[in-house]
Amino acid sequence: MGDLFEQDSLHESAQEKLQENFKTRHAELSKLIHYHDKRYNQDDAPEISDGEYDVLRQELISLENKYPELITKDSPTQTVGAKPSKGFGKIKHAVPMLSLGNVFNEEELNNFLDRISRFLGVNEAIEIVAEPKIDGLSCSLRYVNGKLVHAATRGDGYEGENITANVLVIDDIPKTLKGGFPELLEVRGEVYMSRHDFITLNEKQVKESKPAFANPRNAAAGSLRQLDASITAQRPLKMFAYALGEVTSPIAQTQWGIRNKLVSYGFSEASPAALCKNLKDVLKYYNEINQARPDLDYEIDGVVYKVNNLDYQERLGFVSRAPRWATAHKFPAEEAITVINDIDIQVGRTGVLTPVARLEPITVGGVVVSNATLHNEDEIKRKDARIGDHVTIQRAGDVIPQVVKVLMNKRKDNSAPFMFPKTCPVCDSSVVREEGEVAWRCTGGLICEAQAVERLKHFVSRLAFDIDGLGAKIIQQFWDDGLLKTPVDIFTLEKRDKNSLTPVRAREGWGDLSAKNLFQSINDKRKIELNRFIYALGIRQIGEATAKRLSSIYGDLRTLQKLMIEAQDKESTAYEDLINVEDIGPATADDLIAFFVDEGNQDILRALVEELKIIPYEAPENQDNAVVGKIVVFTGTLSKITRAEAKAKAESLGAKVTSSVSKKTSYLIAGEDAGSKLKKAKELGIDILTEDEWINLIV
Ligand code: IVH
Repeated sequence: MGDLFEQDSLHESAQEKLQENFKTRHAELSKLIHYHDKRYNQDDAPEISDGEYDVLRQELISLENKYPELITKDSPTQTVGAKPSKGFGKIKHAVPMLSLGNVFNEEELNNFLDRISRFLGVNEAIEIVAEPKIDGLSCSLRYVNGKLVHAATRGDGYEGENITANVLVIDDIPKTLKGGFPELLEVRGEVYMSRHDFITLNEKQVKESKPAFANPRNAAAGSLRQLDASITAQRPLKMFAYALGEVTSPIAQTQWGIRNKLVSYGFSEASPAALCKNLKDVLKYYNEINQARPDLDYEIDGVVYKVNNLDYQERLGFVSRAPRWATAHKFPAEEAITVINDIDIQVGRTGVLTPVARLEPITVGGVVVSNATLHNEDEIKRKDARIGDHVTIQRAGDVIPQVVKVLMNKRKDNSAPFMFPKTCPVCDSSVVREEGEVAWRCTGGLICEAQAVERLKHFVSRLAFDIDGLGAKIIQQFWDDGLLKTPVDIFTLEKRDKNSLTPVRAREGWGDLSAKNLFQSINDKRKIELNRFIYALGIRQIGEATAKRLSSIYGDLRTLQKLMIEAQDKESTAYEDLINVEDIGPATADDLIAFFVDEGNQDILRALVEELKIIPYEAPENQDNAVVGKIVVFTGTLSKITRAEAKAKAESLGAKVTSSVSKKTSYLIAGEDAGSKLKKAKELGIDILTEDEWINLIV
């Protein structure tokens, strides 16, 4: 009896202990999943693979199935994703916040500098400001009469989130400017966390059983984008100012002058920085800072070079999303050695089959990497990468990690070459490899689930419809459950949901409020600009910049559709006009035409038009000038500006620059020694301008 009793009580306390462990594990898992939801849904910066995430979630679900008493109101199974970043209001940037081009070595750097000199037609070396490229997140601060009125994240470059409340608690950011400042001044900079502060913060996180941040950048991002600014206030954030947005009057003539002026207003500037006279100086700076990197108290992922003379900057202007007058010189990628556990084939939005190495997880540059791209079949063959191989992988900045090489001496005897599939691993359709292409493509089109679902994800992505609360993960779930098959289904979801036996609000992790919010976010996007709409269609080779160009030129969807169908005839003017659009060559033209000619696509477009109001694209530049929409041709030698600059300037004003004269040419700008084009223009009665007349027209 006594024995039994003793055993029972022993058993009971063991049970209790176990229960306690489960409870702790449940709390840990909840926290982790919430964290990764947020990284995925709000920050667009997942730190773990979908597979790893699913493992965590699965463990939580089984735990809750076994012990329902563990279910809490805020368990990830009871809430949906992370709170949408909708909590922040949106702010449109007066001047877009663009990104930077990259150079990776001396040759590319030399080309960058040469291109600038050629563009400007300047013979002597151009002065360059070199400064650290801070690995944080950018923000824009707007000051009116020296008072901070609002602050925004970069967002998609055109519109960011209102983080005014959050930056008010950052000491480095002046709330009132010192000294003589223009009436309106926008300052752009990088918010970051110092290495020292990062280590202290992580120690605190661990002590409080909160997840540690993987690196200072993540910590800074997680701290700044807090809906509750009192949390931001507890995080040690700093900012370096590096550029201007809108200003009412110039504050300096040079980039170096801007740096000094910003310091006088009360901002911090990243140092060391250097004013470089030539390529030699620039390289010296790069090498020195690369050496000093471990000793800096903030993380940098390269250096930034900017043309010092602001008149030159103005003349150089921009190419789609990046300035011609600046570039980033990235440090070499960080490397590590690990094992390929498997090779999967992913099928993308346009049907491209991409082999992905599933790796034994390893930390590279502060981030855990468990996948790396193997690019394509040729690349696998060239490297002879096999399952089971030890490999060197590298990760540079935000670029997808890559497999660099196989360590042949560690290869197992029984390994076999990887066989690239001969059919689509998802839909089993045949795969083709077009001439001159490295990629195999699935021919299944929308029959292929992978392509269809990837297109849906693209459709709602940030630069496309940007639907809050409908991220890639939810698209995948809704797809799996048959709620969404085509983009049209997104807009009919609410109607169908009303009669559904399994409405969204009853799904696991959803409730009345989250379902209502989702439908609201969808309805908010029924009015959409043409450029976003075109981009959302996911037509091969049509990126954001080309979608904008098409929108400005064709004006509305119906015209675009009509002219793309006409352009099937390569002799037509519709075709000629199409390939005259900047960046559209015959291959892109073929893809565009093929998309609009396809009957399935036409059906989808018809149905989408029923659901949406597509509004014209408004180009951010001032389009109120004499040459917008005009077709111009330059000929002969220009004396004041180079041909490249003239072309770029005309295009930035909304003109179309072509190389041959035709009936449709609006102006021929004839420099010295103009020949046959001038003759032809005279014959056709086209307006002919001298270089000076042209300059007068555009200023
Ligand atoms: S200048 C129009 N300077 O790098 C020129 N950017 O890859 C605007 N960044 O979005 C950028 N340090 O967030 C500039 N010293 C620096 C920078 C810097 C970091 C970031 C910035 C930008 C990104 C582009």
